[in-house]
Amino acid sequence: MGTAEAAPPAATASFTPPVVASISRLGGEGAYDVLARARRLEAQGRSVIHLEIGEPDFPTPPHILEAGIRALRDGYTHYATTQGMPELREAIAAAVTASHGVAVQPEEVVVTPGAKPVAFYALTALVEPGTEVVLSDPAYPIYGSLVRYLGATPRPVHLREDQDFRMDIAELEAAINPRTRLVILNSPQNPTGGMLTADDVARLARALASSNAMVLSDEIYRRIIFDAEHHSIFSAPGMKERTILMDGFSKCYAMTGWRLGYGVMPPALARAANALLTNTVSCTATFTQIAGVAALTGDQQPVAAMVAEFRRRRDLCVERLNQIPGIRCRTPRGAFYLFPNVSGTGLSSQRFADDLLAQAGVAVLSGAAFGPGGEGYIRISAANSLENLATALDRIAAFVAGLRR
Ligand SMILES: Cc1ncc(COP(=O)(O)O)c(C=O)c1O
Repeated sequence: MGTAEAAPPAATASFTPPVVASISRLGGEGAYDVLARARRLEAQGRSVIHLEIGEPDFPTPPHILEAGIRALRDGYTHYATTQGMPELREAIAAAVTASHGVAVQPEEVVVTPGAKPVAFYALTALVEPGTEVVLSDPAYPIYGSLVRYLGATPRPVHLREDQDFRMDIAELEAAINPRTRLVILNSPQNPTGGMLTADDVARLARALASSNAMVLSDEIYRRIIFDAEHHSIFSAPGMKERTILMDGFSKCYAMTGWRLGYGVMPPALARAANALLTNTVSCTATFTQIAGVAALTGDQQPVAAMVAEFRRRRDLCVERLNQIPGIRCRTPRGAFYLFPNVSGTGLSSQRFADDLLAQAGVAVLSGAAFGPGGEGYIRISAANSLENLATALDRIAAFVAGLRR
């Protein structure tokens, strides 16, 4: 070490990095804030049942895990092709061709670290100030956050409880205008579990045919459905060319931490997504992609077992929530969330969620975290054991009973 080292500049407490204004338009995900609060309570010795985080509580199925470990041992520890490894893109193209009944080529598939980047890339490529994006209210908060970040205008379409939280297609049609660049669909939906019907999809496809808008169809929960059929706009005649299909491995294969998702999109958008990938992450982790091939081509029984367990949990929650005075809950047909209406308790959504955590040790999300249309509701993630859910429901019932005293 040299002898005449310059002293580091004195810390200048007054310096503020000149962060651009658009960053302040990015929103967060309420689940992480609630998780942090819940962890603080646990650190104080309190018991908390976690119903806030939207990730399956199951382990990644063993054959997928083994494929990932084997890939690491076999040297899949280097960069991969930006758009995704050919073997994974071929497996995805074959899987989507089979599930959606529309021929998909590997060139149309873009592999990403989780499904979330597909929304970022699609929006970055398609919207700008002066354009509009139609999306539901309530909705997965990232959509609106990205639309605002990019300086575009969100056009919310309300989801109505009395329509099982389906989008009202007439309202959606009315929201589309010449400035609309994108319509974001999410079926089955987070946070409500609502799903589009075949008729909804057909009507929507007709409405979009006379517009310039594209569709981002977030189908990340498409395989987690109960007594329902999944209907995708991607499969509607003429819609493949206008649709970005967003899906991934996080939810149905319990692979949230592996970060593996994909988009199926027209070649011009695939090129844009590639450019954005090159400029950000270069590629998706290689061993993760090999695990993804194992997930798609291997035994699908673990998915069926997970869905069966989610159905048992849903049934328990719907039955027990509807027995609590002041709460009513529709039966979600997909995803693993419950979206009960708690307005009859007299508390706002936020107050209900805050007090429930602080007083009863149950972590849930305020429905308002998903947009103003979520006021009056809370979101319960059924990603916890039946036993813990039963205890949480006892605690919720006791908490609500306490409000009346
Ligand atoms: C509707 C929806 N889309 C996308 C995602 C993100 O998926 P991934 O973890 O694969 O990025 C989530 C995660 O909660 C989600 O609920």
